[in-house]
Amino acid sequence: MPPRLAPYVLTALASCIITTQVCFVLLSPDPRLRSDCALVHSAAPLGAGTGPAPEAGLPPTRLLPAQRLPMQNRGNAILANGPQQSADTAACACTPNSTLADWNQAAPAYAPLRPEGLPVIYVITPSKPGPTQKADLTRLASTLRQVPALHWIVIEDQPAPTALVAALLERSGMRNSYSHLAVQSEAVSAGPRYKTARGVEQRNLGIAHLRELVSAAAAAAAQLKRSPQRPGDQQGESETSAPEGVVYFADDDNTYDLRVFEEMRFTQHVSVWPVGIVGGLMYEGPVVDLATRRVVRWHVGWKKQRQFPIDMAGFAIHARNFINTPGELLSRSSPRGYLESHLLARFVRQLAQLEPKADLCSTILVWHTRTEAPDLSQEEAHPSDPLVEV
Ligand code: UGA
Ligand code: MN
Repeated sequence: MPPRLAPYVLTALASCIITTQVCFVLLSPDPRLRSDCALVHSAAPLGAGTGPAPEAGLPPTRLLPAQRLPMQNRGNAILANGPQQSADTAACACTPNSTLADWNQAAPAYAPLRPEGLPVIYVITPSKPGPTQKADLTRLASTLRQVPALHWIVIEDQPAPTALVAALLERSGMRNSYSHLAVQSEAVSAGPRYKTARGVEQRNLGIAHLRELVSAAAAAAAQLKRSPQRPGDQQGESETSAPEGVVYFADDDNTYDLRVFEEMRFTQHVSVWPVGIVGGLMYEGPVVDLATRRVVRWHVGWKKQRQFPIDMAGFAIHARNFINTPGELLSRSSPRGYLESHLLARFVRQLAQLEPKADLCSTILVWHTRTEAPDLSQEEAHPSDPLVEV
């Protein structure tokens, strides 16, 4: 071989060897050889649910429900959600340093309208206008759209519903399972704004709307009961009674673990659980006596003298209570921190009546996160385009 050809021949040989190695790794049936290759993904169809089949020599894929929801009511909630629930529950049993190179196979997250027989969760959210409103509601919508049999009542602190929130809800994937209302807060003349409770008028309007929704659902159920059984109807369908429901006041800036909704769903009267990062503590919440499984006192530092020292995010109330107790249930005269206590006092006399959820109140499933007021100090010098919706 002439010496001047040597570099070309060596280069060609080297590229052959490298190509062979790459092909060997990519085409190999042994996934261990591919585990760090970000471009390789399984051919399982989207929504197949349980991920790639376990292969010999690899740790088996774990199915999560039993591990992810180690709480009371778990069986009910999971069974009621049916097979759709399993689609996003495949878990990686990887070693801490490994990366699962696969596409997201979670089920498309749309809240089904009302899976038959599941108590409906009515979520009441006041929402104030401001630079973080869209971000807050976007985040909350991303959570709520994943919860079946949920109706979201959003009440803006505005004279009328805004186009911004209307479009956000329209896009949210909640389809028909939301209501969009508005009422402006009363002007607060007595003292500084931070001393008065927030979201009062909005939640009262939300409760009035909830009563209409529940009455309509009860009327529909009664109608169904009266109508003669049609061929093909499920046995017992004509016996359907008024739908069960539970009410939760979910502020727009908190952070919600999806499990908190399944914990509250089967509330009989009033259920309670702890709330993270609130009241000057890592968490605030009910303390449960393990022998009796009853709430006996509170873990709380701020305004301990309250009868029910618990944040709005830490309880749910059966919908029937709002039907049986008419009128406005929240009052502008409640000082800050007392809104929750005054509301609960209408339905609860003794601690023992409270139903402890979330592993007897030992698991945090909601956090009182607050959205920081944004720094807009450059807006005056460099005004943003008002046509860009933020
Ligand atoms: C805490 C509690 O978590 C609230 O449930 C309670 O209403 C509030 O204290 C209070 O003492 O009134 P905090 O984070 O301080 O919450 O309150 P925000 O999150 O600012 O407001 C609660 C809800 O009311 C939010 O969804 C917010 O968007 C809405 N809001 C707030 C209004 O509709 N109008 C307002 O002027 C302020
Ligand atoms: Mn808040």
